[in-house]
Amino acid sequence: MNVDHVATLRQARYALLPDSPNAEPSPLLACRDAIAGGADSITIHVRGDRRHMQESDAFLIKESICVPLNFEMGVTAEMIAIALRLQPAFVCLVPEKREEVTTEGGLDVVAGRREIGDCIRTMQKSAIKVSLFIDPDPAQVLAAAELGAEMVELHTGCFGNAGPQDVEREIDRLCAAARVGHEAGLQVNAGHGINYQNVRLLEKVPFLCEYNIGHSIVARAMRVGMEQAVREMKLLMSSYSSTQ
Ligand code: PXP
Repeated sequence: MNVDHVATLRQARYALLPDSPNAEPSPLLACRDAIAGGADSITIHVRGDRRHMQESDAFLIKESICVPLNFEMGVTAEMIAIALRLQPAFVCLVPEKREEVTTEGGLDVVAGRREIGDCIRTMQKSAIKVSLFIDPDPAQVLAAAELGAEMVELHTGCFGNAGPQDVEREIDRLCAAARVGHEAGLQVNAGHGINYQNVRLLEKVPFLCEYNIGHSIVARAMRVGMEQAVREMKLLMSSYSSTQ
């Protein structure tokens, strides 16, 4: 469960005082409710521009939750230093552009091999597992495996945005990338743009271990509460079988 957008709402009013006792909604309480609803891990992304999660959120959440923390981060010296202090269970390396609304494309592991490889080794020396957020492109998957990442998160944004004409093509791309990742010994995850309407279409994609979902669950939580919103998503995910 990615709770960034709980912080987005808080920052709309408390951008300068996110630690104020009146600042609401609380990302930490959202984490607790999400876990009660069945979230297996919590994801947060402290962006360079601090538009939603703050460093203080990261440390508070890390010390308060009973499930693994996945820290999404750009490959920058600042974020590497935060991750080493935070000690999350996992980091997911993402490309980060200041002007983007959300993470818009996958990491170019082929082009960024040296910098990304250095970051992976730094994290692993500190016993933090590394996932790379990449487009469902076999060349990127293989580059991730060569660099020694434990996981990839396949970018499902194109799948999420695809109309009826294109969705099968996007599913085929995800299937091919998932197979390559599995054969290369990677844990294969998926994330971005997954919602209550499209999640079951991902049943066609083999070898997926985790879905990383934020926006649709936070939006649903506004109607039914976070715990119930997560529970509903978990139910939709429960018929997935990873090896079809
Ligand atoms: N995975 C990554 C790497 C992301 O950057 C995001 C968005 O923060 C997500 C998953 C979740 O995407 P969504 O909010 O569309 O569910």
